[in-house]
Amino acid sequence: MSKKIAVIGSTVMDVVSYIDKVPEGGETRASQDFHTACGGKGANQATAAAKLGADVLMVSAIGNDAFGKEYLENYKRHGIETRFVNVIEGTATGVASIIVESNGQNRILLYKGANDKFTPEMIQTAGDELKKCGLIVLQLEIPLESVYAAIDFANENKIPVLLNPAPAVKELSIEKACKCDFFVPNETELGILTGMPIETEEEIKAAAKFLLDKGLKNIIVTMGSRGSLWISGDGKEEKVPTRKVQAVDSTGAGDSFIGCFVENYVKTGDIPGSMKRASQYAALGVTKKGTQDSYATKEEFEKFYKM
Ligand code: RIB
Repeated sequence: MSKKIAVIGSTVMDVVSYIDKVPEGGETRASQDFHTACGGKGANQATAAAKLGADVLMVSAIGNDAFGKEYLENYKRHGIETRFVNVIEGTATGVASIIVESNGQNRILLYKGANDKFTPEMIQTAGDELKKCGLIVLQLEIPLESVYAAIDFANENKIPVLLNPAPAVKELSIEKACKCDFFVPNETELGILTGMPIETEEEIKAAAKFLLDKGLKNIIVTMGSRGSLWISGDGKEEKVPTRKVQAVDSTGAGDSFIGCFVENYVKTGDIPGSMKRASQYAALGVTKKGTQDSYATKEEFEKFYKM
């Protein structure tokens, strides 16, 4: 398997306020801290993998604006291949307005902007480069028809594909999801997609099995401080715990899990081993503010992992 990873997905600038209490409707409150930072589920996953040393190709869409320019620099700084980050005239780069409460919980309002103009043709244009990749990683912040085109491209070219169904979209075709090698929701997304309860681990397992019965190959459910759970269509099952940490900002934790998982998986093919590293990588990230800025470099992570 080639070790190069392709992420086909979103680029979003995050505008983040940190606040002790979320305002009620009609109320104005002062926030305690604020920053703008590079985010977006696709870009976060690409950056986490790159920070850990992976060779990453990003296929995405940005606007021809200040945020887009800043973002291209950010990709380059992390050594991510940007040849297929499409600049769309007359459209804004995606923006997420994020509020983080003092317990680390976030609320996100996403304006997709250029991400909504990502077309299946953009996948064909990047086709020769995508064929050199050992894994394609997808999320749901670009149009569903482009996600489906990416799954078809991966299948036609026998490239393994991981789908992170985030944010959860009820219209997602489970038939298409079954064509992916990995399906990686968090428990909330699993609940939305199945319409089943997901409070307890037993309920989470039941919801995961409901999807596996429909033909999914591997489902990995990320469960925050409860760790992650892998169940495969051929009967393998493993729960991987994570490390207890003091969370200050959980934004992008799922993305850092996926970035670390794919970086290790393309090298080793070891699913539980990659989950173990990914859980700890995500745990380390939530101890700091921000998304990509909170993701550890390889050196920082190896030190934490050995502790
Ligand atoms: O998963 C976290 C990301 O979701 C944020 O960076 C924000 O951009 C939203 O897309």
